Amino acid sequence: MNAANTLAFLVFPYIALTVFVFGHASRYLTDRYEWNARSSEFLEKKKLFLGITLFHWGMMLVFFGHAGGLLIPQRFLDLMGINGATHTFLAHYNGMATGIAAFIGLGLLMYRRLTILRIRLTTSVNDLITLGGLIFVSGAGLYNVLFGDYYILDTIAPWIRGIVTFTPAPALMQNVPLSYKVHILSALALLAFSPFSRLVHIWSAPLGYFFRSWIEFRRKIPE
Ligand code: HEM
Repeated sequence: MNAANTLAFLVFPYIALTVFVFGHASRYLTDRYEWNARSSEFLEKKKLFLGITLFHWGMMLVFFGHAGGLLIPQRFLDLMGINGATHTFLAHYNGMATGIAAFIGLGLLMYRRLTILRIRLTTSVNDLITLGGLIFVSGAGLYNVLFGDYYILDTIAPWIRGIVTFTPAPALMQNVPLSYKVHILSALALLAFSPFSRLVHIWSAPLGYFFRSWIEFRRKIPE
């Protein structure tokens, strides 16, 4: 087996995942005050709305698409009547719609950061790496959806399942086209960077809001 392939698809993924896990733990313990999305809504609201909404909905659907499509083995989907061709068709068109939404949203967010003075002045290098990284990773993914025509269910999908179940099989990645490898390696690099950026807010989604009791506001009617 090729050494570069082993480095890229066995060693690097575990380094990235280790930094991801321990990076989050250490940031949570040492820097909890800065553990947030660093909202800029109070500086500019109108342009933020479209970009942030398109990006977040697109990205979250892309995330669930990746998790379901790659982590569930095809033999289970076969039992449910979804064969490889149907799976590929659904992944292709859902990935295209949600990926385009996320990519346009990111473009609008980057445009806003660079062109509105008060946003630009409060933008850090870390913010630019975060948005730039997301643009690169989602752009590479979208490129594969639009122009790649590679059957991933016998190669990339079992490879990623091997990584998360600690039964790695890097040889599966040997003949995967370069554009897919670029998407995967850049996504892993972004995963390793995320604990040190504002992306930590993903893990503090305010899910409690869905379950808490209503807060009632009543107008005081003068007697
Ligand atoms: C889990 C649910 C999520 C919630 C509740 C959430 C919430 C938020 C909020 C409140 C902001 C600040 C918007 C503002 O400026 O006022 C934000 C910004 C941001 N979020 Fe999320 N987010 C979530 C998931 C994600 C995911 C999955 C990603 C990326 C993979 C992401 C990436 C970003 C980025 C890059 C920004 C900064 C955008 C900018 O200001 O240019 N978020 N998010």
